[in-house]
Amino acid sequence: IGVFDSGLGGLTVLKYLLEYLPNEDFIYLGDLANLPYGNKSQDNIIKYSIKCAKFLESKNVKAIIIACNTASSYAYDTIRNSIKVPIFDVISPCIKEIIYSKNKKVAILGTEKTIESNIYANSIKKNTSSIQTYNKACPLFVPIVEEGLEGTEITQSIIDYYLNDIRKEKIDKLILGCTHYPILIK
Ligand code: DGL
Repeated sequence: IGVFDSGLGGLTVLKYLLEYLPNEDFIYLGDLANLPYGNKSQDNIIKYSIKCAKFLESKNVKAIIIACNTASSYAYDTIRNSIKVPIFDVISPCIKEIIYSKNKKVAILGTEKTIESNIYANSIKKNTSSIQTYNKACPLFVPIVEEGLEGTEITQSIIDYYLNDIRKEKIDKLILGCTHYPILIK
């Protein structure tokens, strides 16, 4: 099974895949040459994502996981139409989890492009009108994680800076809509 992301964020997905599918072999691709995806144009996100998927396909994988929300937001359909093996994204399972829960106020954190796509809020609204959503782009989180700065004071200040408004909303659930963000979960 091939798994890709722009960098190390997708390892947070791979961790669970290894746990749930212990008998599978995985190939992980972090596209560090083009990191970050989160502030690139839609065309470039699609171009990079297709290249990753084609590379994994050339390694004869039986399925591909797009372990990147930004790529899932913009490139899922294009990848599905150009690759023969089954493709899985990271957004749809999260939407299912949210719409079948009792949450009323849900906040979504993501890269600039994921938030700009409004994919989480739109998909939630398509399924239910009883959930209020709040969007927040957190562009500094990816470089923080890639630099290994989790748990530092500077990171805490940036988290406070991004989350202060959302804290006031008393939300029920926070979606970490970028696979780098679970590294900041503590
Ligand atoms: N880990 C990614 C995501 O889930 C991409 C972050 C980036 O490259 O900006 O969106």
